[in-house]
Amino acid sequence: MAILPVRIYGDAVLRETARPLASIDGTISTLAANMFATLKRYQGLGLAAPQVGLAVRLFIMDASEVAGVGEPTVFINPEIIGTNGEAIYQEGCLSFPGVYFDVRRPRQIGVRYLDLDGREHTIEDNGVLGRIILHEYDHLEGRLFVDTLTEQDRRNVEAAMREKGIIPPAP
Ligand code: NI
Repeated sequence: MAILPVRIYGDAVLRETARPLASIDGTISTLAANMFATLKRYQGLGLAAPQVGLAVRLFIMDASEVAGVGEPTVFINPEIIGTNGEAIYQEGCLSFPGVYFDVRRPRQIGVRYLDLDGREHTIEDNGVLGRIILHEYDHLEGRLFVDTLTEQDRRNVEAAMREKGIIPPAP
């Protein structure tokens, strides 16, 4: 397994709409294994393929160690099949090192997806797993959690990232 370089805010691939996976083969299993190694290395809860430079509809989630819930899961060609309610949770993102803020999203979600064997599954959740799934799903649509901020707050986040040298200085 390999630790993959994680794309940082400003990288164009993070804004692409990811394409569905037409087939699930060994290269996809290897990608998922490498993404789990990368997630563990950075102690994240979820990681989407565009974050490692591949605009395909796949993300992984593992909250079992950090949050003590769920199990390592690979989501291929996921579809959000329902949402309900509203909740505010603090989120982070491996493409925004050191950045955390509250995000309002639906409380309850349902998702249908394929696993690495091509089998279909459905998960419903109204806690941290649902929150991770919504955050990662957004990556497949080219949406990022800073998009939920006001323009001013987003600029503040960018300024803080520049100050820490995480993203390049403004032109
Ligand atoms: Ni993220």
